[in-house]
Amino acid sequence: MNDVLLAMDKVDYSYDEGGFALSGLSLEICKGQRIAVLGNNGAGKSTFFLLCNGILKPDKGALFYGGKTIDPRKKQDLLRLRQLVGIIFQDADHQIIGSTVESEVSFGPMNLKLPAEKVAQRVDQALQAMGLAEYRHRPPHYLSGGEKKRVTIADILAMEPEVLLFDEPTAFLDPAGVRTLESLLAELYRQERALLVSTHDIDFAWRWAQRILVFHAGRLVADNTPEQIFADGPLLEQAGLRRPYLYDFTLSLQAHCGWPPDIWPKTTAEIEAYYKNKAGL
Ligand SMILES: Nc1ncnc2c1ncn2[C@@H]1O[C@H](COP(=O)(O)OP(=O)(O)OP(=O)(O)O)[C@@H](O)[C@H]1O
Ligand SMILES: [Mg+2]
Repeated sequence: MNDVLLAMDKVDYSYDEGGFALSGLSLEICKGQRIAVLGNNGAGKSTFFLLCNGILKPDKGALFYGGKTIDPRKKQDLLRLRQLVGIIFQDADHQIIGSTVESEVSFGPMNLKLPAEKVAQRVDQALQAMGLAEYRHRPPHYLSGGEKKRVTIADILAMEPEVLLFDEPTAFLDPAGVRTLESLLAELYRQERALLVSTHDIDFAWRWAQRILVFHAGRLVADNTPEQIFADGPLLEQAGLRRPYLYDFTLSLQAHCGWPPDIWPKTTAEIEAYYKNKAGL
């Protein structure tokens, strides 16, 4: 399970002379990982994502894919990176260019120069997965914020990337949209893709992620399991994060209700199952 897909070594990036948006970034992203990316506004999360698929190019440092150096300034490397690493943008309007939902979702696979029937098949699958089959002939610009978000996810699914980067995907979604997204993430996880979700939703990060990256002031200040991250008070203070509600609730259960110190439930259902089992129900 530990095949490294994307890697960065000491990457720096600045938008303007003088300042920096990201500095000294080194990390590896492996197949089948569920990674939450946390950090306050302006910490560098979106910049990190844009560097991952070559939209931004490092000022310094190196990028690797599958162990081979990638130079996003070379056309061939850039095309490869764009296909393997897909971004769902924070702002859907940045991504949408098609005049209908169907044409929008076909751009990616058409650019990969796939045969027409393969393009049609990928578009059908992506629209189906995002519950958009009935929106096929609608102009995406006149859809609601959440519907547009689903179109942009379908765009990326149709490219069949190995690494998917979701930049604050729940921002425009209603509760049903969030459930659809979470079941899609579960399906993509079953397919062993690498999934990164940047989010301000700490409770989502707790229940979903196996690994958490914390950015602060342009640096990756922590890369660890959720259990380790949320046990680190000074880190949470520095990065402006809070503990998940279920984490605090578990601390109370440990203090007052005999909850074992080494089990960190991710859902209330796990807590219920534990006590039912203990009571022999
Ligand atoms: N196009 C740009 N031009 C100049 N500076 C930028 C640009 N985009 C981002 N920055 C700056 O780079 C830094 C990192 O921004 P980035 O968008 O990566 O943060 P973020 O962690 O995604 O924040 P948020 O949670 O608000 O989305 C910030 O200081 C920001 O002001
Ligand atoms: Mg951002």
